[in-house]
Amino acid sequence: MRHAVIFALLACLLATRGVRAADDILIADFEGDTYGDWTVEGTAFGKGPARGTLPNQMPVTGFLGKGLVNSYNGGDDATGTLTSPPFTISRKYLTFLIGGGGFPGKTCMNLLIDGKVVRTATGPNTKPGGSEALEPASWDVQDLAGKSARIQIVDAATGGWGHINVDQIVLSDARPAMVLTNPILRLTAEKQYLHLPVRNGAKVRHVKLAVDEKSDREFTIELADDKPDWYAFIDISAFRGKPITLTVDKLPDSSKALSLVEQSDTLKNADNLYAEANRPQFHFTSRRGWLNDPNGLVFYQGKWHLFYQHNPFGTQWGNMHWGHADSDDLFHWRETGDVLVPDSLGTMFSGSAVVDWNNTSGFGRGEEKPLVLIYTAAGNPFTQCIAYSADAGATWTKYDKNPVLKNISGGNRDPKVFWHKPTNRWIMALYVGVRQKQADGKDKEIHTIHFHSSPDLKNWTFLSRLDGFFECPDIFELPVVGEAGQSRWVVFAADGAYMLGQFDGTKFTPETPKLPGHFGGNFYAAQTYSDAPNGRRILIGWMSGGQFPGMPFNQQMSLPMELSLRKTPDGLRLCKGPVAEMDKLADGESARRNVIARTGQNSSHELNGDLLDIGAVIEPGQAKNVGFDIRGHRISWSSADSKLNALGKSGNVPLVDGRLRLRIIVDRASIEVFAADGTVYMPFSIAFKSDSRAVGFFADGGDAKIVEMKTRTLKSAWPAGK
Ligand code: FRU
Repeated sequence: MRHAVIFALLACLLATRGVRAADDILIADFEGDTYGDWTVEGTAFGKGPARGTLPNQMPVTGFLGKGLVNSYNGGDDATGTLTSPPFTISRKYLTFLIGGGGFPGKTCMNLLIDGKVVRTATGPNTKPGGSEALEPASWDVQDLAGKSARIQIVDAATGGWGHINVDQIVLSDARPAMVLTNPILRLTAEKQYLHLPVRNGAKVRHVKLAVDEKSDREFTIELADDKPDWYAFIDISAFRGKPITLTVDKLPDSSKALSLVEQSDTLKNADNLYAEANRPQFHFTSRRGWLNDPNGLVFYQGKWHLFYQHNPFGTQWGNMHWGHADSDDLFHWRETGDVLVPDSLGTMFSGSAVVDWNNTSGFGRGEEKPLVLIYTAAGNPFTQCIAYSADAGATWTKYDKNPVLKNISGGNRDPKVFWHKPTNRWIMALYVGVRQKQADGKDKEIHTIHFHSSPDLKNWTFLSRLDGFFECPDIFELPVVGEAGQSRWVVFAADGAYMLGQFDGTKFTPETPKLPGHFGGNFYAAQTYSDAPNGRRILIGWMSGGQFPGMPFNQQMSLPMELSLRKTPDGLRLCKGPVAEMDKLADGESARRNVIARTGQNSSHELNGDLLDIGAVIEPGQAKNVGFDIRGHRISWSSADSKLNALGKSGNVPLVDGRLRLRIIVDRASIEVFAADGTVYMPFSIAFKSDSRAVGFFADGGDAKIVEMKTRTLKSAWPAGK
């Protein structure tokens, strides 16, 4: 009896909650092996639903489950139609996912009633590039209630984006989230910066920015529909007073993204700029966004210029710009903003810079020598271009007759240019992938450097080719330390591995095999400075990898290092050491001399702070292993094989006169170790655990002697840093 009452109450409750929405009706989800009772015509749709991406197609995303309609079967040129059996319009909305070509009537999905098209939708793409992501779309079909309808999916297009992708067709009473196509924000440029809300991991949107109705730039960005993680910024000071429009490809109608866009004269949320928890304090990072290769390293009039591969709109690789910073001392950087912005020739890939002392380019004005950037425009195709400054780097202009070097093959890129005095001309080292038949008859792309020469940086002539080097090549001459009049040429590329040899102005002749350039975990695409004073050869690399949790930026540069060529028992070797300018960062120094480190007794050295420069001379004596524990990471030298081991990597470090010399530099997100006179460099980008700050020395298997240990605590290079 009691139960009956409860049931009655429940039934009553449910009834009074109002009309329950009827369940959704699935028209098709394309999860089967065949199209079932759908009618297939032509070849574009294949025999059954595709399982995701088809051969030679960009990755298809955004569909549900494993299968979808993908008319790229047989490529863009295949055509056909796919028509559903009839069904009754028995709900208010028809929702679906759609992507692919954006050609009305040709790459589309139609709703047919009595054979007539009553609704139609296309994918978003009409131009090269774009995205294979399917996006939600829907039709309001309330006026068609009760009618018998069919879905017709059409691929009548050939050529670029001549295909259509569809999935998950559902009849529903729930009002679907509407997706707005090309919503526009209009504003007048009044302040220095335009701020765009970013949410890491949000759907990638394509944004077009026009100034005065003229297209200025296009980029992709993970726009925040609601609470942003951080704001990306564009310097709009050059457009003051002019109308700007921002057009987004698609946004849900509930998105607040465009209303979150604002202008101001300062960066947003920048109160703790450079003092953020995981911000390196003396390694270069970008204020906002992703960074990779150092570019255009050049010294002029007391300033070290550092350009870099920059995505201002996200914390992942993309939208490559050249960001720029300069410094008097290689540590205290002043970020000036993006200097090279993508244009109709492509995004701005890596390259170099030179001072054109003789004004061979004719870009100079008055006394001022032109600075010239030589970069890759990564468009279709990849070409080499130049830009210049006639005011010591204050402003930059792209050459109006770009490109200066046509495409040689595919992704040829990363020009490194220098002045070759003996032949009185410019030399460019350029990475070029060359397809070549191998012994087994198969075609394979081999990695080469192509050398070119030019009288004026504008006209380039092919000279010679050197095989075995990949992207980001560099080449320079270096004297041998202690051997008056002796020098070698050094060639290396992105992985840092180098050869020594001769360069006669046309051709590089190697005298060594490839030798490793580093022994660490995070180092790539390094470049040396052009025009450094006093014959210095200074190198900065990208400390590729690592994580910067919660930060509005991603990735960092290595320490600036001085290169030298030294005689070692194994022959001439390229050595690296932190530049002397590091001394400026020293805050306090403590030294210990002639201390016995007892086996098994790990000593913490009461080191304060997490910015450290440790220089140690150790006699391992009877110890089996000696070294340091740095914030939970062991750096250990082993007497058994004379190897220095750190974070899973190792390098050969033989003792010299029974002694081991180490220099270890610790920043907020990195450890760099220098050993064996700089022949061993071990860079690591690390997200330290915040609760482990201990730094100590250890010896095991026997006592060791610390001959000398100098520990310097370092200051932040940023004014606001701490
Ligand atoms: C190396 C590299 C270069 C290219 C650049 C693009 O990291 O792939 O070859 O120019 O990055 O960001």
